[in-house]
Amino acid sequence: MSTASMTTAKAPPVLDVDPFSDENIADPTAFHTALRETGPVVFIEKYDMYAVGRYDEVKTVMSDYQRFTSTGGIGMSDIRKPGAWRTPSPITEIDPPRHTGVRGAMTKILSPIVIRKWREHFSEEAEVVADRVVAKGEIEAVTELVEAYVLKVFPDVLGVDMPRKDFIAIGEMNFNQIGPNNENLQKSLKRVEPILDAYQKSFQRESMIPGGFGEKIFLAEDAGEFEKGTAGVQVRSFLRAGVDTTIAGIGHTLNLLAQNPGEWAKVKAAPAKIRTAFEEALRLHSPSQVMFRTTSAPLEFAGLSLAGDVKIGNFMGAANRDPRKFEDPDRFDVDRDVTGVHLAFGTGPHVCIGQMIARLEAECILGAIVRRVKAIEPAGDPEYRIVNTLRTLERLPLRLVPA
Ligand code: HEM
Repeated sequence: MSTASMTTAKAPPVLDVDPFSDENIADPTAFHTALRETGPVVFIEKYDMYAVGRYDEVKTVMSDYQRFTSTGGIGMSDIRKPGAWRTPSPITEIDPPRHTGVRGAMTKILSPIVIRKWREHFSEEAEVVADRVVAKGEIEAVTELVEAYVLKVFPDVLGVDMPRKDFIAIGEMNFNQIGPNNENLQKSLKRVEPILDAYQKSFQRESMIPGGFGEKIFLAEDAGEFEKGTAGVQVRSFLRAGVDTTIAGIGHTLNLLAQNPGEWAKVKAAPAKIRTAFEEALRLHSPSQVMFRTTSAPLEFAGLSLAGDVKIGNFMGAANRDPRKFEDPDRFDVDRDVTGVHLAFGTGPHVCIGQMIARLEAECILGAIVRRVKAIEPAGDPEYRIVNTLRTLERLPLRLVPA
């Protein structure tokens, strides 16, 4: 790395921590604090990269595409260089003005009017899942409740058919790939080997189920709205981005409600608060913990001098607990409305295009549970899944006490 500096500003301080150790993945609290308190930008030698974890800096780096480009990829690996271990996405890994056209065409396909029409289907499926789990009483909520729901409704509207366990394995691979090429990634690559061919097929034109928005992406390509040959990989971007994040967010909400009976009581008394509870859960346990950018050129940022062409990790998970921004940041508070303020959906030109969908899923399934139960109680310790950049639960044993 060249450290040529054009100013008198100092280089960022070094932080000697591996954010992707199993220990830091299982509980990132200590890493987040060290990241925020070491400086506005730090340098992590092990990966030859910068990192930011304070709210203001994360917000700026994610928005300022001229200085912090997405064209090197939103993962740690530079997709423009030999040896990259991720393949590019035709929506997340381009900058404006190219991105503006793609995003506009996609926004037409996923307009609020289109998404609102899905409410009936999402609600019906939520009632089915909620009836089943409440009748059972004691459940493992990740598989029986959250995955059962999201892996039904999201593939239904996307119009893609893939076995449920394949979705989970592929998701794990994707979120490992955003981080380093470590043992976690190698393990998940091995796990998906037998299903890779079927996965590649699942986002091709002939696999689209008529009526889904996947099919609409292909039709938009035919109409010249997307570059020729990119529709399949656009559909793949939705498989990469839309499933595991939503499962994670709904799982965290249930866990936090079970762990905080006082907050549950507020939701039970005013069920509309389930929406702010979901946003609070995304703030506290941001499913997508980090997204990367690359410095376009040597530059000065936050009073520090950064070299050009170096990866910078935006740790949204750390920013969302920054005491500079959030009072008592570790407290789960369903009366705190952080919608549009927390950075779990990103910010700037690439801000999550599926956030309305995630919110609709959360509102339907969590609302169906709230209406049916008087209490959600822990029935064992929750366990986190070890995935490089995804904060999600592996197991969530819960007792649902019928109302
Ligand atoms: C709680 C659930 C979700 C979370 C936490 C989440 C998080 C994010 C984040 C952080 C970004 C910004 C990436 C960047 O700046 O580099 C993003 C973008 C994106 N998300 Fe989501 N997402 C969620 C749900 C969804 C859903 C349901 C969909 C499917 C429709 C989706 C599709 C996308 C796509 C396609 C992008 C790229 C947008 C662009 O580059 O213009 N996401 N998401």
